[in-house]
Amino acid sequence: MADTILVTGGAGYIGSHIVVELAGAGYIPMIVDNFATSSPSVLPRLRRITDQPIPCTAGDVRDRAVMKRLFAEHAISAVIHCAGLKAVGVGEAQPVAYYDNNVGGAITLVEAMTGAGVKTLVFSSSAAVYGQPEKNPVPENALLRPASVYGRTKRMVEQMLEDVASLDAQWSIGLLRYFNPAGAHSSAQIGEAPSATPNNLVPVLAQVADSDAPEIAVYGNDWNTPDGTGVRDYVHVMDLAAGHVAAMAYLKRAGGVTTLNLGTGSGHSVIEVVAAFERACGRPIARRIAPRRPGDVAICYADPSRAQQLLGWRATRDLDAICADAWRWQVNRHR
Ligand code: WQD
Repeated sequence: MADTILVTGGAGYIGSHIVVELAGAGYIPMIVDNFATSSPSVLPRLRRITDQPIPCTAGDVRDRAVMKRLFAEHAISAVIHCAGLKAVGVGEAQPVAYYDNNVGGAITLVEAMTGAGVKTLVFSSSAAVYGQPEKNPVPENALLRPASVYGRTKRMVEQMLEDVASLDAQWSIGLLRYFNPAGAHSSAQIGEAPSATPNNLVPVLAQVADSDAPEIAVYGNDWNTPDGTGVRDYVHVMDLAAGHVAAMAYLKRAGGVTTLNLGTGSGHSVIEVVAAFERACGRPIARRIAPRRPGDVAICYADPSRAQQLLGWRATRDLDAICADAWRWQVNRHR
């Protein structure tokens, strides 16, 4: 019998792509989502892509009764925990909401898993736990100096899970630190659908390119980088999803806590990403130099060698593929 995997936040951007990859790998994915930053409209699209029903419970991971019932009614083998808030700027303005959702949600989830004897968990962490890395590429044992509320909530959950695993050897936990997820499924059926104005570069570019007067605000061109603009590690969301499936297989064999960077290992500047998006959309995008954004760092890209060694995983899609898929999603998403 195929393993049932609960994906919390599975209706969201990262979660929905993970659901597709899980189904493709022969797992039975099921979703719990409160639709705070996602929409039920993704569910029929997931069914079309995977050609199978994807059970979804509308609920909040912080709701003890919902979570207890989920584990009582379904033979869940493992959990991939994506549910949480991820807008760095919003986190600075609403710290309590971020700790409640991101840390409180993880606490309730682990309590429900423990009560049901389910002790295999993949946690959606973030490169934000590094803050401004001392050096790039960033290895997993780099100094952890999260510079945002969001980053601190992710590190706090990592620490809680490390403590849980040190107490009970039955736990097998993957802490996957995402760098900059971007792009969309090639079908253009699912993708990044920010409920509010997007903050991240690629979805901003998709919206800007789709406007009458495309112009992007570049947050600073005086960084200590080759062209003065911020450098990041953009990893295709489908590569990221494949990393979760590989991690799930690994955790069935390994115990304890496995911490892995999920990135491409190469960095691209804002100007390079704008140029790639111009190639994808076939139109020029004007750029306006704006002040630096609070909390930004100059350069951050992954050393993904440990994920390659342990999981046999590496990103296979490049920046042009990311922009092409993101643009196709932008053009088709409202159809
Ligand atoms: C990328 C670069 C900006 C928008 C954050 C979180 C991280 C993860 C991804 C959740 C930077 C520049 C951006 C714009 C710009 N989130 N930029 N104009 O800040 O690296 O990472 O999102 O997992 O945890 O920290 O991503 O896409 O916002 O910015 O110049 O309109 O693009 O300054 O250099 P970031 P981003």
